[in-house]
Amino acid sequence: MYRLSNIYKSYDDEQTFVLNNLSLDINKGDFIAITGKSGSGKSTLINILSTIDRPTRGYYTYDNINLDKMSDNQLAIFRNSHIGVIFQEYNLIPEYTVNENILLPTVFSKNKNHNLEEITKLLGIRFLLNKKAKFLSGGEQQRVAIARAMINKPDLLLADEPTGNLDAENAEQLFKMLKKLNENGVTVITVTHNLSFAEKFEIIYTLKNGQLHKWK
Ligand SMILES: Nc1ncnc2c1ncn2[C@@H]1O[C@H](COP(=O)(O)OP(=O)(O)O)[C@@H](O)[C@H]1O
Ligand SMILES: [Mg+2]
Repeated sequence: MYRLSNIYKSYDDEQTFVLNNLSLDINKGDFIAITGKSGSGKSTLINILSTIDRPTRGYYTYDNINLDKMSDNQLAIFRNSHIGVIFQEYNLIPEYTVNENILLPTVFSKNKNHNLEEITKLLGIRFLLNKKAKFLSGGEQQRVAIARAMINKPDLLLADEPTGNLDAENAEQLFKMLKKLNENGVTVITVTHNLSFAEKFEIIYTLKNGQLHKWK
């Protein structure tokens, strides 16, 4: 479904490479965790997979569509219809209600065919819809961030350190929700430095020296 071939990413004019000849094959329905130390390039990889950033060099295709040839505009349209992202800091707008936060991506994509009812039911957050984001607990914010990532019905859900601000119990809840989405057909990739969280995924890679090493 998604194939990265010989991807390089440099932020300093090719003096050093954060991603260094990295390749990855993602199949539909995969449930993947990628671990790696702080600074190993996990967020860099998520930003490239989500098409928010571009590789310095390399090829990548999604359902055999060549992404490296697309304009920024084409990439934005592609991203809106295929990819949901959960950011490390959630990036919710504090003064907006939960409802408004979740629907934000549909404003940009003008998507009327969203799944607000279904996704808020699945995540158990319908009772929060009219609450302002600034009044939510960490675990609630995380669930709202998932709902927002899923609102345009993406087939790929990417998460950057989703347990970063959660205690063990909320991390377990989060895992169950990602698992549920995966069972409903969503491909899930998370990057995390949390090993006990990563170990629950079906496929595990470590990102080291700019390359991925599969160990499960
Ligand atoms: N926008 C950027 N500009 C310059 N350097 C960056 C940028 N983003 C990340 N880096 C550098 O790339 C390396 C990998 O960062 P990152 O992908 O954030 O790692 P991780 O998420 O695994 O902690 C780090 O050395 C970081 O300083
Ligand atoms: Mg990071």
